[in-house]
Amino acid sequence: MGIDVIRTGAAVGAEIRGVDLSRDLDDGEFDAIENAYNENGVIFFRGQSITPDRLLLLTKRFGNLQLNTFGETLGLPDFPGIVLVSNVEEDGREIGIKRAGENWHSDMCYTPKPPRGTILYAQEVPEIDGLTLGDTCFAATHAAYDALPDAMKQRLDGLIAEFDFAARVRAVPITQAQIEAFPPVTHPIVRTHPYTSRKCLYVMRDDCTGIAGLDDSEAQRLIEALADHIVRPEFVYRHVWQPGDVLVWDNCTVQHKAIQDYDLPLRRLMQRTTFAAESAPT
Ligand code: OGA
Ligand code: MN
Repeated sequence: MGIDVIRTGAAVGAEIRGVDLSRDLDDGEFDAIENAYNENGVIFFRGQSITPDRLLLLTKRFGNLQLNTFGETLGLPDFPGIVLVSNVEEDGREIGIKRAGENWHSDMCYTPKPPRGTILYAQEVPEIDGLTLGDTCFAATHAAYDALPDAMKQRLDGLIAEFDFAARVRAVPITQAQIEAFPPVTHPIVRTHPYTSRKCLYVMRDDCTGIAGLDDSEAQRLIEALADHIVRPEFVYRHVWQPGDVLVWDNCTVQHKAIQDYDLPLRRLMQRTTFAAESAPT
């Protein structure tokens, strides 16, 4: 059976049909998947049933496994490369990262080399009488860049933004040790995608704390204007999850945000991996 790539019709996202991820993918199949991934920023496979080992094998086809600081305590038992994103509690203890990614963000932008991509494998999805909750939204940073007026594109050329993990303390509990492990880093506001060469905006509220050469209030104004521009509805794909979905996103091409519209006893459980960029975006 051949591989079909069905675009969502939004600015990003495509469903891949005709692939059973529990079986080995040959190079031709993986190439088709990787091309669809680069092109569409978000790809997903429905109705999958895979073991943790398979999830890790798939992840490593895209790039080296990259570990997340939150996985040290909230990993899948015996599989430290797989982090659980979940609101489920067992014996009074949270088994995964709860309320992960409630604000628009790109994963691990606070590190010198953010991961190329992230995979979520949906095990349990909250729903009420067939109405699914806990969607994830993805915003197309290349479409957002392309839509900027020329004057703004010129202004952004060469601008460097600062990202500070410590700023997260406003949103999630983080430890002093974590703050010390992640000193502030810088990234260009306009990143050239290493595979597609498309220009992508890389700015968000909260994580992005300044812009080199601009005073704080001017930087803040620009960060907020760009961050809001990127997530305009015309650039957004909203994924409605089904159990068995394996979804892969590109942390340069998209920003994402979890819709936190459910709570226990409705359960949400995802297995999550991240993989490194082969070459750092410039
Ligand atoms: C993440 C994340 C969003 C979600 O895992 O990096 O932001 O909807 N998750 O779970
Ligand atoms: Mn995230």
